[in-house]
Amino acid sequence: MRRLVVGISGATGIAYGVRVLELARKAGIETHLVVTPAGQQTRAYETGLEARDLAALADVTYRPADVGAAIASGSFRTDGMIVAPCSVRTLSAVAYSMNDNLLTRAADVTLKERRRLVLLVRETPLTLGHLRAMTAATESGAIVMPPVPAFYLRPGSVDEIVDHTAGRALDLLGIEVPDLPRWGD
Ligand SMILES: Cc1cc2nc3c(=O)[nH]c(=O)nc-3n(C[C@H](O)[C@H](O)[C@H](O)COP(=O)(O)O)c2cc1C
Repeated sequence: MRRLVVGISGATGIAYGVRVLELARKAGIETHLVVTPAGQQTRAYETGLEARDLAALADVTYRPADVGAAIASGSFRTDGMIVAPCSVRTLSAVAYSMNDNLLTRAADVTLKERRRLVLLVRETPLTLGHLRAMTAATESGAIVMPPVPAFYLRPGSVDEIVDHTAGRALDLLGIEVPDLPRWGD
């Protein structure tokens, strides 16, 4: 059984995190979820899901304040972590190892254990500070993957755009997503 940590922070685009969880489940991956309080706000604004519906998409869900949870330790083995969406606040905390909640702690653990960390950073336009935080996170080993649509695939719906981005994020962890449209296929 492969294991993926999923963090949902308070940037717009919670649909990306939801889709990552759904696709990971389809692929037979065990998921461990932590949602920040701001992530819960965007859930309420942007979806019809209750907190328990979101939690039910993962195998295990943790409270963000629970910094003693399994995913806070490097000895708990995982295949990596995706933060989808990733706010600038969470990006900055990850970039500078400010392990101020379970999401940012789990991300830092992922980096220190030299595992894959994919950050779907969502903000626009970007300040130099945002760009510097992206540079610092990249220098520490994270993959910064802003959820930017690929129009060459001629997406017909928002769902298709979200599917493609979530699938590409899972690709970066070597998780097979069946039917992901690919250029050249
Ligand atoms: C509806 C909504 C949309 C937001 N969109 C963004 C966004 O796209 N990017 C971002 O960095 N912050 C966004 N924010 C602000 C973050 O939620 C805020 O900075 C929060 O402190 C992030 O905390 P977290 O990183 O612990 O989730 C948004 C907030 C709300 C309520």
